[in-house]
Amino acid sequence: MATTAHRGTWGSKAGFILAAAGSAVGLGNIWGFPTQVGQGGGAVFVLIYLACVLFICLPIMVAELVIGRRAQLDPVGSFSLIRPGSNWWLVGVLGVLAGAGILSFYSVIAGWSLAYIWFTASGAVSPDAVGAFFGDFTANGPLSIGLTLVVLGATAAVLVGGVQSGIERVTKVMMPALIGLLLILAIRAATLPGAAAGLTYYLKPDFSRILDPAVINAALGQAFFSLSLGMGAMLTYGSYLSKRESIVTAACWVVALDTGMALLAGFIIFPSGFSIEGFDPSAGGPGLIFAVLPRLFATLPGGQLVGAAFFILLTMAALTSTISLLEVPVAHFIDVHKWTRRKAVLLVTTGVFLLAMPSALGNGAVGALGNLPGLGVDFMTMMGTVWNDFALPIGGLLTAVFVGWVWRVDQAIEEVELHGASFPARRLWSVLIRYVCPVAISVIIVYTIVS
Ligand code: TRP
Repeated sequence: MATTAHRGTWGSKAGFILAAAGSAVGLGNIWGFPTQVGQGGGAVFVLIYLACVLFICLPIMVAELVIGRRAQLDPVGSFSLIRPGSNWWLVGVLGVLAGAGILSFYSVIAGWSLAYIWFTASGAVSPDAVGAFFGDFTANGPLSIGLTLVVLGATAAVLVGGVQSGIERVTKVMMPALIGLLLILAIRAATLPGAAAGLTYYLKPDFSRILDPAVINAALGQAFFSLSLGMGAMLTYGSYLSKRESIVTAACWVVALDTGMALLAGFIIFPSGFSIEGFDPSAGGPGLIFAVLPRLFATLPGGQLVGAAFFILLTMAALTSTISLLEVPVAHFIDVHKWTRRKAVLLVTTGVFLLAMPSALGNGAVGALGNLPGLGVDFMTMMGTVWNDFALPIGGLLTAVFVGWVWRVDQAIEEVELHGASFPARRLWSVLIRYVCPVAISVIIVYTIVS
């Protein structure tokens, strides 16, 4: 296709899987997952989460990759190429907006992680006052804004470089290092006094909350968020995927890596949290990892270095995710509005930075701008609910309906099986994408709104 000649492609299959996994693995796994488990009542949340990943998100991951690879365009362009003259391109618009919206609060938290590299390395966080330290730090609005700007600047710099040289290279080194360090931390955490109570909380479900709509909705939103689904990020990455690669293998790898990393993070946070006197996982909120981990590092030889290494890797993991969030609106302005990559990156980044202000300012004394009067909820939490719990699942729902009923599954299967690639369980996938995903997501959303 002549129109796609200028587009980048991935250097190799491993490169693609790493980049897609790099998008998926981020703050959502290490910061978001334990936070949500804490608020959702422990193991029961983990169970619902795993069900959402397997039966809803994995099929939608395949669907997004297929659409992207067929159309080789951004989300808006993809939907209108496959169904010209229809309104389906609006699903792409929702994705472009969600990308900017999510990035606006995500980059603030990534900025905290960046600052903690210094705080842990220098020993500034005393293990006895981690909570207070976090509170004071995030109350400093101008500092949060500065850090957000650094994160967005770094993201923009990588994106100007384009697909292969930028995104792929960073992830190849970071991912194995992160897995190694998380494993070491999980082993250390398991040997702390009180670890057993943490493991019980994490692994032994209290079934009384299994039908709590808030818990189910949060698990679904978290699964979409963690896997970078529902807003066309995977669609966009799929658009750079060579026609010779197996979509299904790639999707399974990304889901397995992402879920494995999230579960691993829980094996670090809960045993170490419960080793602290009077620990209440549900009270942790957004500060959970920032309050618990410095204490874990303090129990290790060379703890300051281990802590710094951890926050370096977390910041890099966050960066490979911010890259994919920013790439969706950027690809849109390049593909549909024919902007140059440089112009698209510059303008979109500026817009996101402005949108990030209330999240950066909303965490303390300077919070007047960030705290929504009357709602009793800070701006960042509200952004999380709007985008993660509603926009992403709705985007996923529409993607499933589009592939299952509009474009139709046989077309999608044909694209997957190009060049003799196999599509194991394609029958099961068809059923999941046509019936299970749309029905389950609609029921969860309606159930949440009604109650
Ligand atoms: N998945 C990332 C994380 O877990 C965040 C992210 C990156 C994302 N790209 C996305 C979330 C696209 C939703 C959609 O940290």
